[in-house]
Amino acid sequence: MTRIATIIGGGVIGGGWAARFLLMGWDVQVFDPDPEAERKISEVLSNARRSLPGLSDVAMPAEGKLTFHAEIKDAVAGTSWIQESVPERLEIKHKVYAGLQEHAPADAIIGSSTSGFKPSELQEGMANPGQIVVTHPFNPVYLLPLAELVTTEANPAEVVERAKEILTAIGMHPLHLKKEIDAHIADRFLEAVWREALWLVKDGIATTEEIDDAIRYGFGLRWGQMGLFETYRIAGGEAGMKHFIAQFGPCLQWPWTKLMDVPELTDELIDMIADQSDAQSGHHSIRELERIRDNNLVGMMRALKAQDYGAGALLNAQDKRMAQPIDMSGLITTVSRVVPLDWTDYNGHMNEARYLQAFGDATDKFMELIGCDAEYISSGGSYFTAETHIRHLDEAHAGAQIQVRTRCLLGEGKKMHLWHEMVEGDRLLATGEHMLIHVSLETRRASKPASHIAATLGRIAEGHATRPLPEGVGKAVGKK
Ligand SMILES: NC(=O)c1ccc[n+]([C@@H]2O[C@H](COP(=O)([O-])OP(=O)(O)OC[C@H]3O[C@@H](n4cnc5c(N)ncnc54)[C@H](O)[C@@H]3O)[C@@H](O)[C@H]2O)c1
Repeated sequence: MTRIATIIGGGVIGGGWAARFLLMGWDVQVFDPDPEAERKISEVLSNARRSLPGLSDVAMPAEGKLTFHAEIKDAVAGTSWIQESVPERLEIKHKVYAGLQEHAPADAIIGSSTSGFKPSELQEGMANPGQIVVTHPFNPVYLLPLAELVTTEANPAEVVERAKEILTAIGMHPLHLKKEIDAHIADRFLEAVWREALWLVKDGIATTEEIDDAIRYGFGLRWGQMGLFETYRIAGGEAGMKHFIAQFGPCLQWPWTKLMDVPELTDELIDMIADQSDAQSGHHSIRELERIRDNNLVGMMRALKAQDYGAGALLNAQDKRMAQPIDMSGLITTVSRVVPLDWTDYNGHMNEARYLQAFGDATDKFMELIGCDAEYISSGGSYFTAETHIRHLDEAHAGAQIQVRTRCLLGEGKKMHLWHEMVEGDRLLATGEHMLIHVSLETRRASKPASHIAATLGRIAEGHATRPLPEGVGKAVGKK
């Protein structure tokens, strides 16, 4: 299978798919008759470059090559995945698939971004219906991992499996629906909430901003990390879900919501909503709002990553898939990553605490490499840091590709003396010198490491000792 993806329709959603595939190392071939498509995609791509790579704690694959094509047949040459994101009109989608099936490899998967159509509707009348599936993403596609995968009996099991594999490989979570349904799963909720919100605005109960506050200061935060049912399980207290339903379920019968009633979208209501929205957010351009949204998403998703929960657990799994084997023959590259958006401060560069975090991550990786891994730690031994000296030598900005190279200066008995150098390309950004002591987690006192750890550590320290001592070792604060 090639790592070439084709993007048919490069608007808001197609541009997001293009960016995700490219940043995950796939070549991307775009077909979109809009003369502005190249400009629009490059703008989406630059927003994606500043936000997505920093979500990862390991090095990302090298970015793929982006090309634009005036003919469908060139855009689909050698492709394994075709993502269709043309306007939401069935006749346009059918016309596009007919053209694709004439030229594309018969085993390439055609995923449709459709928000509403069922796959059986998309497949109807097509020469090769088994090739077409729904892969419904969420904006911004390069950050949000959900892709609703909707298939029919016309799709061979092998196509469904391959679709799941490819979506997973580019860091997404394929949620495979048990049955097709109009608007899939997520948009059905969103429609219900949106309908309700329109009534609240129309009836003068709340402005657009007040509705947004009701979401983002309350249940939106809960939904973002646990969703609906896990949240309600907690709301039921010790008695759990059954109690919760018994207590609140009957309210659903009361006329609290407007259910299927939709307010008539008169000019007056549309103007009211547009005016309120201008008052709420009109001082930001759309690109600014996108960057604010991406900064917030990155911060929240990285926080979830630290808890290994929800979307954060998906990111950790993706890091495991992307992690490269570490070369132990010379100095050891213990960190290779992009500086994430949430590591920078008011000066626009990496905050000093994050230098320590990167060095702490480097030490953790080094410990893992010598055998002081999660299993060893749970058996009762670990290293604690006793002393740290960091020199901040140069600035690092969000998006910078940084590496930490680690040298073991001493690995004997209870002591482990490490020297980290943080670089961006050839530029030395910082050094970190750390003394760690092996401890028994039971007595919380210094103790000797297990013999396999002592042996590996000794061997690495011996190998590193043949090199000249790095400049700056053993320096005290303020000494040149
Ligand atoms: N906007 C969203 O939030 C969102 C979310 C999920 C899914 N979707 C779905 O994604 C699809 C695209 O929506 P969008 O918001 O990106 O629309 P958009 O209007 O931003 O982009 C559509 C693009 O398709 C191009 N196009 C039109 N006809 C074409 C053709 N025949 N061949 C190739 N390109 C063609 C247009 O030039 C345009 O660039 C729709 O099916 C929509 O339901 C949208």
